[in-house]
Amino acid sequence: MPRVLNGIVAVCPDLGIGCGGNLPWHPVRLSNEFAHFRKMTSTAREGKKNVVIMGRKTWFSIPAKNRPLNNRINIVLSRQCIAPPAGAHHLAADFSSALRLVDTELSEQADQVWVIGGSSLYKEMMESPGTRRLFVTRILKQFDSDTFLPEISPDKYRLLPEFPGVPQELQEENGIQYRFEVYESNDQ
Ligand SMILES: NC(=O)c1ccc[n+]([C@@H]2O[C@H](COP(=O)([O-])OP(=O)(O)OC[C@H]3O[C@@H](n4cnc5c(N)ncnc54)[C@H](OP(=O)(O)O)[C@@H]3O)[C@@H](O)[C@H]2O)c1
Repeated sequence: MPRVLNGIVAVCPDLGIGCGGNLPWHPVRLSNEFAHFRKMTSTAREGKKNVVIMGRKTWFSIPAKNRPLNNRINIVLSRQCIAPPAGAHHLAADFSSALRLVDTELSEQADQVWVIGGSSLYKEMMESPGTRRLFVTRILKQFDSDTFLPEISPDKYRLLPEFPGVPQELQEENGIQYRFEVYESNDQ
């Protein structure tokens, strides 16, 4: 059975996801939002680990002390690197090579696959066929951004009324309100 691909992202109202190599709301920390990211991407079947796939800039946007993301298999994508950046578990030259790695060398250990950014990887994940789930945190405040999430096509993605483990109520931290959403696409 083809594997479900998951993406997870936190976005401003204009779909901004990053600014100057950081999150748009930096230096404000949204600890509970980060805990949601950690819970969703880390929860795997017993004896297995989830895989997180990210672009090189997203890898380096994670504070060094938090790399690699723990309890997850970290795959970094780069066309230039010839070896995984220090601390990363695997390097892949493109998205399909990363997925092939999951289905071959990592198949025994890997559970879910999570795409965690940035822009071009979200685009590839969102446009690829099969079952795709997009876990979106809607930050309800505008911040300057230089990196954006591609539009979530309403023709392709439907907003799920609820999803296990994802709170439905409005969240607020440090004066910033946000809510969690889950979209699904079943294109073949
Ligand atoms: N809000 C959120 O949820 C969220 C999530 C993630 C990241 N971010 C933010 O977004 C920014 C980083 O994202 P970004 O879009 O600028 O960069 P990115 O996608 O993380 O990294 C871009 C680099 O990754 C490699 N890459 C990307 N797609 C590839 C592919 N298909 N095949 C091979 N290599 C590929 C290339 O590396 P080489 O140049 O080495 O070839 C490319 O230059 C930061 O500001 C970060 O904080 C926000």
